[in-house]
This record gives sequence, C-alpha cells and structure tokens, in this order.
Amino acid sequence: MSDILTIADLKDLARRRVPKMFFDYADSGAWTESTYRANEEDFQKIKFRQRVLVDMSNRSLESTMIGQKVAMPVALAPTGLTGMQHADGEMLAAQAAEEFGVPFTLSTMSICSIEDVASVTKKPFWFQLYVLRDKDFVVNLIDRAKAAKCSALVLTLDLQILGQRHKDVRNGLTAPPRMTLTNIIDMAIRPRWCLGMAGTKRRTFRNIVGHAKGVGDVASLSSWTTEQFDPQLSWKDVAWIKERWGGKLILKGILDKEDALMAAKTGADAIIVSNHGGRQLDGASSSIMALEEIADAVGDRIEVHMDGGIRSGQDVLKALCLGAKGTYIGRPFLYGLGALGKEGVTKALEIIRKEMDITLALCGKRLVTDMGKDQLRR
Ligand SMILES: Cc1cc2nc3c(=O)[nH]c(=O)nc-3n(C[C@H](O)[C@H](O)[C@H](O)COP(=O)(O)O)c2cc1C
Repeated sequence: MSDILTIADLKDLARRRVPKMFFDYADSGAWTESTYRANEEDFQKIKFRQRVLVDMSNRSLESTMIGQKVAMPVALAPTGLTGMQHADGEMLAAQAAEEFGVPFTLSTMSICSIEDVASVTKKPFWFQLYVLRDKDFVVNLIDRAKAAKCSALVLTLDLQILGQRHKDVRNGLTAPPRMTLTNIIDMAIRPRWCLGMAGTKRRTFRNIVGHAKGVGDVASLSSWTTEQFDPQLSWKDVAWIKERWGGKLILKGILDKEDALMAAKTGADAIIVSNHGGRQLDGASSSIMALEEIADAVGDRIEVHMDGGIRSGQDVLKALCLGAKGTYIGRPFLYGLGALGKEGVTKALEIIRKEMDITLALCGKRLVTDMGKDQLRR
C-alpha cells in the first residue's frame, strides 16, 4: 500500500485485479473517447500562481455542498455496476465515504440496492435517479430513497439514450457476466475477485430486479437502457420529480450555459457540470472547459458542482477556482475499489486530500473556500 501514491497507481492495480469486462467498463468513453481524454488533459492546461512568505498554518479543506458539511468538497459520483468492480462495492464505497466525511451517491444502476447501502451506513447518502418510462417505478425509487433517508436526489439528465462505448460492445458487458470461455478464463486468473463474488449474493441490479414490473433483460445494460429509459424526459418532468421528492435536488449532466440557466429556474439546489465522464456525447467539451462560462452565467442563482477528469487534488482546486463549489470523482474511487476494496476508496480520497492540502499551501491559501480565479495564472 505504501507504494501507492497516485490515482494512476490505483488504476494499475485495479487493471490487474478486476476482470477485463468491468475494468474496461470503467476505463472507457464513447466512440473515439476524445471527450474522455479531454476531461483529463484540459486540467493540465490550467496553471496555478505560486505564492511565498504567507502564513500557511492551520489549513482547512472543509466546505459545504448543498448546505451539507463536507471534509473536502469531493463527493463520490454515482456509478453503475460498482458492485462488479469489487464484491459489495457500493456498500464498501459508501462506508469509506461516510468515514472520510464526504457524500456518497448511489446510482439507480447499482448492484447493491438502496436498502443494502442504508443497512451498512449511519449517515444519509445521496441517490441518483434515472428517469424510466415506467413512472410507477420512478415513484417507487423516489419513495425508497426517502425511506432510506437519502439527503439529496441527483437527477441525471444526460443519459436518456446510451452513448456507445466500443469496449462494452466488444466485451459483451453484462452483470452478472455470461459464462463464455473468454469470461471464465478472465475471471479465473483473478481469484481474489472471484472469491469476493462467491461470498456475496449481490450480483445483479438490485434496485431494479424484484422492484420494477415486467423488466426484460436487465443484465445487458445497453438493451435495458434502450427499452426502459424515457427519451421524452423534459423540464416538466424535473418539476414533478422535484415535487414528489421534496428534498434537496441536484441536476446532473449540464454542459451548456442555456441549459444551466433553465436549471436555475427549476429551483433545484445545484447543477453538476458534467459530460458523464466522456461516456455520452463524444466530441463534447471537457467539463473543466465548460465550467467557467456556466458558473459565470448562473452566478449565485444555483450552486455549481462539476465532475469529469479529476485525477488529483490539484484538479479539484482548479475546478473550485473556476467556480465550482463542489466536485465529484467517478473513476478514481472505482480504481481504488477494484484495487483494494474499501481501503482503496479511502486511499483514493487520502491521495486527493493530501494533494489538495499541499497545493493550497503553496498557492498561499489556508482555506479551500478562499480558492478563486485569482489563484490561477491566466
Ligand atoms: C463506470 C461508470 C459508471 C457510471 N454510471 C453512472 C450512473 O449510473 N449514473 C450517473 O449519473 N452517472 C454515471 N457515471 C458518470 C459519473 O457519475 C461521473 O459523471 C463521471 O464518472 C465523472 O468522471 P470521472 O470518472 O472522470 O471522475 C458513470 C461513470 C463511470 C466511469
């Protein structure tokens, strides 16, 4: 563990420990993956101002996201099939986040259910909702999230149609994996993963199976999305979902200023500037490049969060400087989970915390909440 110093180190280990189908599912973007790459690369173009001879004692990374106190403004993003990176993955990641003091967001397309995660956590987590054609089932999900005392609903707006990720098609992605010869060999050379899976009953989409009426082939994410996701989702739906939920609402998947202004009018609590980690519209702008314009356009009408491409604490700080009040990490925590289970998720958070803390000091700041455009060299 002591030789793991970066998120890239966790990624290398996850690549060795997680069956190819699921590692590739995390490490992929749509089509040419240009937006997936840009999400990471564009952070490198942003430079900090180095400052000296300022008091750098008593630093703090504490902040708030939608009014909730966070140890640092970095939440775990909702990710589907997390329980395939590691047995009981969502439960472990939620526990790691809770102990660290950052929000965990459970995906609709998770392996462990809302109830599973609630059973192993003490503090409220967040629930991410996909809007399906079957509105009774949407209501069922909202009500279950309420019953589990989730403290925010994250409504994803950018995946009513699934972007194509070539690796998933080539690997024949399903959960649980089909017992083809390639898959059997691929799993057999990863005994640690197999042992974990053999020891849990959670191997399919437990938010859905047994809850939604007449669901077809859930195992295949792509066919299920095509059948079930509602391509007519509109701003009117946001209004009824907001009303039915009645709690804190975050709109995820905004990448355009006009949409951000519409989102601000809904009365939601925050937006997430996001392109779904480069997994949907290939050729769209990186999130970090879209952030500033959106943050400037909405001002303080709605809280602005962002995700996509964050691989270090420095990336988090750059996003905060450009107007985000909070950020999310997807792959960094998935790699940690695949590499080392719960400890790996904690490790990912610790790496990011340390990088944030040292960078903050070298930029001449003590409070993360003081980071602004002034700290960037432009
Ligand atoms: C493997 C994987 C699965 C994802 N599943 C979901 C999901 O179920 N719901 C959702 O809103 N976003 C999903 N996302 C997008 C993430 O919430 C987030 O926007 C993205 O991962 C951020 O980029 P990053 O991975 O570079 O940090 C997924 C991302 C990945 C990598």
